[in-house]
Amino acid sequence: MITTVTLNVSVDKAYKIKGSNESGKVMRVLECNNTAGGKGLNVSRVISLCKEDILATGFVGGHCGALAEELLEKDNISSQFIHVKSETRNCINILDENNISTEFLESGAPISEEEVNTFIKEFDDIIDKSNIITISGSVPKGVPSNIYATLIEMIKLKNKKVILDASGELLQEGIKALPTMIKPNSEEMESLLGVSINNEEEVIESAVKLHENGIEIVVVSLGKDGALLVCKDGVYHGRPPKIEVVNTVGCGDSMVAAFAVGLERGYSSIECLKYAISISAANALTFSTGSFKEEDADRIFKDITIEKIR
Ligand SMILES: Nc1ncnc2c1ncn2[C@@H]1O[C@H](COP(=O)(O)OP(=O)(O)OP(=O)(O)O)[C@@H](O)[C@H]1O
Ligand SMILES: [Mg+2]
Repeated sequence: MITTVTLNVSVDKAYKIKGSNESGKVMRVLECNNTAGGKGLNVSRVISLCKEDILATGFVGGHCGALAEELLEKDNISSQFIHVKSETRNCINILDENNISTEFLESGAPISEEEVNTFIKEFDDIIDKSNIITISGSVPKGVPSNIYATLIEMIKLKNKKVILDASGELLQEGIKALPTMIKPNSEEMESLLGVSINNEEEVIESAVKLHENGIEIVVVSLGKDGALLVCKDGVYHGRPPKIEVVNTVGCGDSMVAAFAVGLERGYSSIECLKYAISISAANALTFSTGSFKEEDADRIFKDITIEKIR
């Protein structure tokens, strides 16, 4: 089973509006789509669409937390959340007629130290049930910035695999515990290493450095240019075919999900890369976040090129 960790759950509202999004104007929403969000829950939905067993964990609270749990249940995703006092947040994504999206992300109400400790205790049992664990996204206030390092250490003690997809201090602190895999984009890579990345050679240098420091699988996602993989077998660049993008939100989460699925199925890192590019590119062809159509992924899969660089 794959477990996803989402400490900052939200109920995501996707608004479709007529015309373009202008500040200072009243705008009527044409369509509103509620989904259980926070990056880890996008990962969960994609894993479920890949037909693998999935358990979602993290913090939920209040009415919004209950709605998030209900939305997950509708998507056939099992969950085991810690119920906290504060209300789960909302995030809003406005997509206008020109396909331009504007996001409003609440930071998440504070969690107490006691609630964090309850989670850590329960997480120990969850690890026993899981083969692969993904950890994604931000954390609410009150959660220490080394929380991901703590969880990764616990997972590794039990010889299970862990994928970390975070940014800023959480990633910086998290990699100290050497997760099995990380999936930064180039911006996250720049801030992680404090360098500026301007070309493919610099992406490779940075990724190789992280791999040599002890992270088994380093994947740098490069949007429409696919992704770079550094693993024990070498350095590879996988490229998707050119596609007509609908909405790229959640592409990174789809990539993490597909890697988790590939690892669960015993694929090699290179097979995982190809599979993950097909799923993440297929996610860009749907309006909803963390979703894809199997026929899109199958079609894209056939046209992916994998180049061995080193
Ligand atoms: N325009 C695109 N065309 C084809 N594939 C895409 C496109 N954008 C993203 N992808 C696929 O999705 C993967 C992840 O995308 P990206 O590099 O944008 O991740 P990210 O920045 O982490 O995204 P997120 O916003 O979900 O965190 C890419 O490696 C690629 O396989
Ligand atoms: Mg990302």
